Amino acid sequence: MSGRIVMGALAPHPPHLVYADNPKQNEPRAEGGWDVLRWGYEALRAKLKKKDYDVIIVHSPHWRTVVGHHFLGVPHFKSLSVDPIFPNLFRYHYDLKVDVPLAEAMCAEAAAQGLVTKMMRNEKFRVDYGTITACHMVNPDWDKPIVGVSANAAYDYFGNDVGDRQMIALGQAARRAVEKLGRRALVISSCSLSHRHFTTEPGVPEDMSYERIYNHNQYLWDMHVVKLLKTGKARELLDEMPDFIDQSVSEARAGSLTFLLSALGFPTQPAEVHAYGTVIGTGNAVVSWDMEAA
Ligand SMILES: [Fe+2]
Repeated sequence: MSGRIVMGALAPHPPHLVYADNPKQNEPRAEGGWDVLRWGYEALRAKLKKKDYDVIIVHSPHWRTVVGHHFLGVPHFKSLSVDPIFPNLFRYHYDLKVDVPLAEAMCAEAAAQGLVTKMMRNEKFRVDYGTITACHMVNPDWDKPIVGVSANAAYDYFGNDVGDRQMIALGQAARRAVEKLGRRALVISSCSLSHRHFTTEPGVPEDMSYERIYNHNQYLWDMHVVKLLKTGKARELLDEMPDFIDQSVSEARAGSLTFLLSALGFPTQPAEVHAYGTVIGTGNAVVSWDMEAA
């Protein structure tokens, strides 16, 4: 079998986007909101509908692990996910399957690269909302298994350069595992760009008269990053990643974006940008790479 990563996507996870979509799995009801970003996800889903793939690999900033890189290692998870900051927006009943053999292969490949790794075998583990939100937005039918990968805190404990080096190795390990097992994989980075945000919520959370860019400098950084992706300059973005992380308080500090770019082999093809928009002031881009069109 010849496996490969068929597509990659930057899939930010503000719970507001799920809330605004009113899916049956989420308890709160919304009047709408954040439409441009949700239209971007619609466009991404339309592309994915035409793609033949059998698993979603997702790296999430909200599954933080202090020691090593962890992988979901239980075939089935079903529970209620409540966003700790926005329980008023996100109380989501999830029911998902895991491609455990692929997770084990990724874990072994990452260990062979010298990374500290661990399979997460606790059946009662509560899957984090960054994983659930991004997976819901790309595939609300949940008809594909996932491989969830944790965000190791190397950026915090050692620095951005060390964190990036580990994520490059982790992305390469993911690609090798996909190829060895003959999977056709979608890899997603559950990650915002700039991440300064408002600290008070309007009475109606989806009242879009309150939503706007929070800070001009971080907006300029976001547009710079989007331009690099659109022009196939993933390597240049990697060079600038430590500055981007520090100067825009970027959620890329969790490593999800570097992991994705590495898994895709630092693509030189132009990325397709489906949308950019703010959520409570944070910068979010929905972006994809069709690796079979490359
Ligand atoms: Fe987040």
